[in-house]
Amino acid sequence: MNTSDVQAQKRRYGIVGNFEGLNHAVDVALQVAKTDLSVLITGESGVGKEIIPRIIHDNSLRKTKKYFAVNCGSIPEGTIDSELFGHEKGAFTGAIGEREGYFGAANGGTLFLDEVGELPSATQARLLRVLETGEYIRVGSSDVRKTDVRIVAATNVNMAQAIRDGRFREDLFYRLNTIPIKMPALRERGNDVVLLFKKFAMDTAEKYNMPEAVELTAEAQEKLKRYSWPGNIRQLKNVAEQISILSPERVVTPEILAEYIPDDPVSHDIVPLNKRKEAHSFENERELLYKILFDLRNDVTELKKLVHGQQAERARQDVAVPQVQGCPVPYYRPDVAFPVANSASAKGEEEFQTPEEYVEETISLNDVERQMIVKALEKNRGRRRKAAQDLNISERTLYRKIKEYGLDKEHL
Ligand SMILES: Nc1ncnc2c1ncn2[C@@H]1O[C@H](COP(=O)(O)OP(=O)(O)OP(=O)(O)O)[C@@H](O)[C@H]1O
Ligand SMILES: [Mg+2]
Repeated sequence: MNTSDVQAQKRRYGIVGNFEGLNHAVDVALQVAKTDLSVLITGESGVGKEIIPRIIHDNSLRKTKKYFAVNCGSIPEGTIDSELFGHEKGAFTGAIGEREGYFGAANGGTLFLDEVGELPSATQARLLRVLETGEYIRVGSSDVRKTDVRIVAATNVNMAQAIRDGRFREDLFYRLNTIPIKMPALRERGNDVVLLFKKFAMDTAEKYNMPEAVELTAEAQEKLKRYSWPGNIRQLKNVAEQISILSPERVVTPEILAEYIPDDPVSHDIVPLNKRKEAHSFENERELLYKILFDLRNDVTELKKLVHGQQAERARQDVAVPQVQGCPVPYYRPDVAFPVANSASAKGEEEFQTPEEYVEETISLNDVERQMIVKALEKNRGRRRKAAQDLNISERTLYRKIKEYGLDKEHL
């Protein structure tokens, strides 16, 4: 390993830590950069996989050419082929013009396929072909096109399991995995966790013009090292930022730390809200509230579906169901009210809600949800991945909801 090269790259990309497995990952990236071999980066969520493809591209002969990062998990199944391989004019409803697609646009450069484990199987077949022959076909076309793209892919999915489950093609896996790079989990990195905490505490202090960054006592450092960090560096960053902003004490003891991370080092539980210090930042309180409301809204929707499903079944047995246009409840009967699960039904009674009330309530809940999504998107300047993380939902769900509320036209 050329240690000084590795250290220089780490400085260049702001990579903190000296753990051997981390240095090895950077070293392999540097060694393969000059080749055209496909690289597959694996590792748990939040371990820093996204830095590696940049290192590879910037140190390759392709560095003056295009670099694209595509998040395969956030593109809906119906459009992913057209995004990656392009489409012809009129290939499908709404295809007004033609589209080049990433494989065409990145010709000569590098394409980073993030979350490659999420690719639908039809797209996997197309990808295998372009990897093997450099050939691809646009959606709606029969012309074979050529491209010269270097592929770096990443995933936090257990690929062996995905192959066993039939969710990922084995031949594609081997083709992508020509050079494997494994990013180590944070819990394996020993003292790096302390170095990273210091970095994030200093970054936060600087960002918010704080007079000083928070510091860890020796015992707090040990506690950090013992914790299992299921969300890895992303989670550590959040914890360091939260403590920096919320803690009135600037010297962090294990007791203060315990308010932000669970006691049990292998527990993946999140800290109950009442264990946290009172929030000193309104912004933070509001975000927590959004998250709670969001979860609550989903629970309520699920409950309603369940209860209404049962009622529908009963209604179906009772009488033929008339279809009422515009009503979101397909089994609407003007003479039948809808039972709602609440404290009254716990006593064995059913409380009834009219369809109008149901619709009204659904609309106001939708309103809250829409607002939360708008706020999350605004806060993250339209970056959907970050917004989805804030809202604790998958990018796919966020994408669907953005469409549902027409926010793609208004806000992005
Ligand atoms: N060694 C490191 N030094 C400094 N920051 C790091 C390091 N590793 C990761 N980070 C930061 O941690 C965060 C998470 O990293 P990243 O987004 O690359 O995770 P990931 O492995 O792609 O996770 P996921 O599989 O969930 O997408 C980013 O903000 C990144 O900058
Ligand atoms: Mg990632």
